[in-house]
Amino acid sequence: MGRSPERTKAWGGRFREATDEVVEAYTSSLASDLRMAAQDIHGSIAHVHALARAGLLSAKEARTLERGLKSVGREIAAGRFSAQAGDEDVHMAVERRLTELVGPVGGKVHTGRSRNDQVATDLRLWLRDEIDAFSEDVRVLIRALAGRARSDGDVILPGYTHLQRAQPVLLAHHWLAYVEMLLRDLDRLADVRRRVDVLPLGAGALAGAGFALDRAAVARELGFAAITRNSLDAVSDRDFVVEFLAAAALVAMHLSRLSEEMVLWATEEFGFITLPDAFATGSSMMPQKKNPDVAELARGRTGRVYGALIAVLTLLKGLPLSYNRDLQEDKPPLFEAAESVRASVRVLARMLPRLEIHTGRMRAGAGGFALATELADHLVENGLPFRQAHEVVGRLVAWCVENGRALESLQDAELARFSPHFRSGAKRGLDVGRAVERRKIAGGTARKNVQRRLAELDRLGLVGERRARRPRRGSRN
Ligand code: ARG
Repeated sequence: MGRSPERTKAWGGRFREATDEVVEAYTSSLASDLRMAAQDIHGSIAHVHALARAGLLSAKEARTLERGLKSVGREIAAGRFSAQAGDEDVHMAVERRLTELVGPVGGKVHTGRSRNDQVATDLRLWLRDEIDAFSEDVRVLIRALAGRARSDGDVILPGYTHLQRAQPVLLAHHWLAYVEMLLRDLDRLADVRRRVDVLPLGAGALAGAGFALDRAAVARELGFAAITRNSLDAVSDRDFVVEFLAAAALVAMHLSRLSEEMVLWATEEFGFITLPDAFATGSSMMPQKKNPDVAELARGRTGRVYGALIAVLTLLKGLPLSYNRDLQEDKPPLFEAAESVRASVRVLARMLPRLEIHTGRMRAGAGGFALATELADHLVENGLPFRQAHEVVGRLVAWCVENGRALESLQDAELARFSPHFRSGAKRGLDVGRAVERRKIAGGTARKNVQRRLAELDRLGLVGERRARRPRRGSRN
């Protein structure tokens, strides 16, 4: 019985030749999956307990393995762990180190388990934690936006359609639009989490473990809400990765739209905001420049998240059941996208409270022709069908443009030339504040609506940078 040249490998018995070193480097996933080490060890300890309960390990062996696994965990956490060339992935690296520490009994940890159900378990544990941390970051960003909505209470700016000035809206209403998007994102993340929260361990390589392990007990120990019902599906399913990336892609898209507005608003042409110096950069050549790089990068990094989503979908589309090594390729895009979108969420949450708002510029842009609808509504209130009112005001606007006149400057007599339905009060409607206040309809921009929504968000703990800053009982600010 000669020793296999691959005796250092968990699967070396079958092989007569050592793995080519280029192949070793090519197939290794350690560089990316080492970040699941804590989850791998947590899962292995639960597995050891299941083995002991099934009588496959003595109590003493189980204690030795658990202690050994915890030591490996501490080594990795402290950065004292040294990977070896033969470590194919985090699972092999942990087992190799465990055996170095506790001796041959380390070889019992993989009883009734395959890396196929192991990696699926680790990934679900990792993603569950990630979703929780990511959701918390999104909540912080929501608080920053809602905090802005509260402090920018009375500011009015032109709302846009087609990037043309359309109608006046409250800046608070604008910020709260992003809050609604992010609340949907939180909802989606919570929904994805339900499907992540299922234990695959026990599926073995593909057919189910050959020992009677108590999967429900393992699920309880690892905090999973359920166990997978089909072993083939358990080791090959990565739907939850795709779902997470889709949810993350929507978050990234929302951040990108917000960022685009920050870029636009900070231009001299708009002049709506000034970015804090600490969140802008200069040009190496043009001394006058102050660039909105943070917002640009948040916009730009969206591409990575979309890329990750498409990468994983493409990875999965041709795979026969069950596990295929291709699946190893799910991790780099997942980890990269998660990191990238979370970094964008965090930096925007820090930047938003520090924006300087140019309320005069905003308000000026909200007046003028952006009030044309008010005149049309006035005509409707005086009995003219809306289509005709639209036509009348359209002609009026064209006349003003040709004659260099502002809507607000028109005299009652001039208005009367366009329609007998204009009453003397018509011009009072040409006021940005009034235009906003008229939109009391549910979901409209009137201050009362916006305040009501803010109060709801406040009750949910979603206003202000952090809870601690909410006013104390009795005090108003
Ligand atoms: N590193 C692998 C992955 O990420 C673990 C599973 C490997 N299984 C196998 N049979 N080669 O998917």
